[in-house]
Amino acid sequence: AVELSLRPRYLNEYIGQTKAKENLTVYIEAAKLRKEALDHVLLYGPPGLGKTTLSNIIANELGVNLRTTSGPAIERPGDLAALLTNLQEGDVLFIDEIHRLHRTVEEVLYPAMEDFALDIMIGKGPSARSVRLDLPPFTLIGATTRAGQLSAPLRDRFGVVSRLEYYNVDELAFIVARAAEILNVDIIGEAAHEIALRSRGTPRIANRLLKRVRDFAQVRGDGIITHSIANAALELLQVDPMGLDHIDHKMLRAMMTSFSGRPVGLDTIAATIGEESQTIEDVYEPYLMQIGFLQRTPRGRVATEGAYRHLGIPMPEK
Ligand code: ADE
Repeated sequence: AVELSLRPRYLNEYIGQTKAKENLTVYIEAAKLRKEALDHVLLYGPPGLGKTTLSNIIANELGVNLRTTSGPAIERPGDLAALLTNLQEGDVLFIDEIHRLHRTVEEVLYPAMEDFALDIMIGKGPSARSVRLDLPPFTLIGATTRAGQLSAPLRDRFGVVSRLEYYNVDELAFIVARAAEILNVDIIGEAAHEIALRSRGTPRIANRLLKRVRDFAQVRGDGIITHSIANAALELLQVDPMGLDHIDHKMLRAMMTSFSGRPVGLDTIAATIGEESQTIEDVYEPYLMQIGFLQRTPRGRVATEGAYRHLGIPMPEK
């Protein structure tokens, strides 16, 4: 699939996240030298920055199998036990959205991570006993948008904790140029830069915008993505020069007009614009805060002066 092939498969193809990459390179090399499983890795940060991609890369670099699941998909302890007992030595188990693991499942994970062991209860009542089953050494990679929601005992069991950061414009322009080459479409440097500027620091968004701009170039132009084609397509996509979309606009405008600039609670904003609180908190807020358009205060969220200026709305008197 095209989607998959856009994803880098090895660390040397992976652009950005310099710090995480440098550290992981060392830990992977060391684990391979010692012929041991890599220590458990926790990847956290906003969505779309490459947590899944990195876990694929880690498994590829280690030369082991990758099993993928997610917190909410593991409903009962037995589901996790089934996954763990099917691993081969050194394999990677990737659990996306690990902050959403059920408590009862999480408890099975502790001895698995710490001692590569599974404690199974046999029987019920007074004759119940627990049997310990050995597991092959493995690497758990957990991914989450919210490290703060992990329980302390779970967080403490990760030997490597890596925070993924928003990408800078140059890195994103590289990613766009690389993806364009894979998609076999010609793109002018300025156009790659323009897409990068409007991708909210996020490769997933950059690649999505690239595909839509490519459609536009093929239908309305001669297939080459020029700067003016990119600008026109991005305007039609309602992605503004700072990468904000209509939901960002709705959110900021609601805060500025419906609430006259007073601090507003997350749920109130969500209800006002008809979006999920969770989505706002995980996807929209982090970037608006990163670019200094939104502040979280103890009394609620407020739009900043920069946000008012960007939207051309006068700031209310204090
Ligand atoms: N595609 C998506 N993310 C990427 C990254 N970090 N490096 C290269 N290509 C990518």
